[in-house]
Amino acid sequence: MKNILVINGPNLNLLGKRELEIYGKTSLKEIENKTKEFSKNIKLNTTFKQSNEESKIISWIHECVNDKYNGLLINAGAYTHTSIAIMDALKAIENIPIIEVHLSNIHQREEFRKKSYISEVADGVIFGFGAHSYILAIMAIENLLKKKKRLKKKTKKRNKTKNKKKK
Ligand code: DQA
Repeated sequence: MKNILVINGPNLNLLGKRELEIYGKTSLKEIENKTKEFSKNIKLNTTFKQSNEESKIISWIHECVNDKYNGLLINAGAYTHTSIAIMDALKAIENIPIIEVHLSNIHQREEFRKKSYISEVADGVIFGFGAHSYILAIMAIENLLKKKKRLKKKTKKRNKTKNKKKK
C-alpha cells in the first residue's frame, strides 16, 4: 500500500465550528474518516496531521523529503498566502506528487487569498468543493502515482531495448 500524508494547517481543527457558511458543517475528524475510507478502497493509506504551528508543518514536509511517504496533500490554511518557509520546504521534495487543497474557492474571496505560495510548487490544486475537495485530491494523487508507475515501466522497457541493440 502506498502512503499519503495529509497536512492541515492553522484553524482547520475548528472545521464544523468555524465560518460554517464558508467551510460547512463537517469536522476535520469526519473529513479524515471519509478520506481514509475512500483511500483504502483504492489501496492508499492516508495519515492525517493538523497543526496551528508553521514549524511543525515544515517538519512534516521534511519527512516527505526523506521518502517516508509516496504522496503529499496539503491544506496550509492561511499559511498558503503568506509562508515562503513552507514553500521552500515543499521545493525540497523531488520524488513524490504534491496536491494543494482548499475547501473554499479561494479565488472568489478576498484579494489576499488569491496568492498561493503552495501553488508555486504543487503538481495540482483542488479547491471549492468543501469537504469533498479532499476526496478529489486523493483521486488526483492516485492518478499521478499511476502515471509515475507507467513512466517507470516505459523507461525500463526503453533501457532494455537500448541494451539489446548495443549487444
Ligand atoms: C482554506 C482557505 C484559506 O484562505 C483559509 O485561511 C483557511 C482555509 C480552505 O480550505 O478553504 O484557513 O485553506
